[in-house]
Amino acid sequence: MPSILFVCLGNICRSPLAEAALREAARRRDLDLTLDSAGTGDWHAGEPPDPRAVAVAARHGADISGLRARQVTPGDFIRFDHIVALDHDNLENLRRLAPADATARLSLLLDHVPGREGQAVADPWFGAAEGFDVTWAEVTAAAEGLLDGVLKPRR
Ligand code: 4NP
Repeated sequence: MPSILFVCLGNICRSPLAEAALREAARRRDLDLTLDSAGTGDWHAGEPPDPRAVAVAARHGADISGLRARQVTPGDFIRFDHIVALDHDNLENLRRLAPADATARLSLLLDHVPGREGQAVADPWFGAAEGFDVTWAEVTAAAEGLLDGVLKPRR
């Protein structure tokens, strides 16, 4: 079964929600995936997700309060089959951080949503609480498409 790592900047808002949405989608399909999330930055390492992210996940039946932020490591590029960035800055940083022997396939989360290819999941950190509802809608839309994609045999 494929393993997937979601990466945003702080690992306290968007990528924990993407991880939670995938976990729910995988559970519905009875798939046993290895899922994790991380940040390109380390400012929030060791911290739980933002309370607004915890709240929106809880409203949709997912408990992310036990997650703790961590920074991406070189080993992630070997350990995970897929590393999915939440926006373009994070994708560029991942390309820069990737070691020479990296095997993970990099993509942008919304590349997995038909019609939204190439778009970023906006950072809700500085905005109003409603921004987290937008984030949840985007990560849940991506979850099904991402599962369809990663389960397709490689050509
Ligand atoms: P995230 O949101 O990347 O979705 O976790 C952010 C959280 C914190 C900061 C930036 C984005 N920050 O600058 O501390």
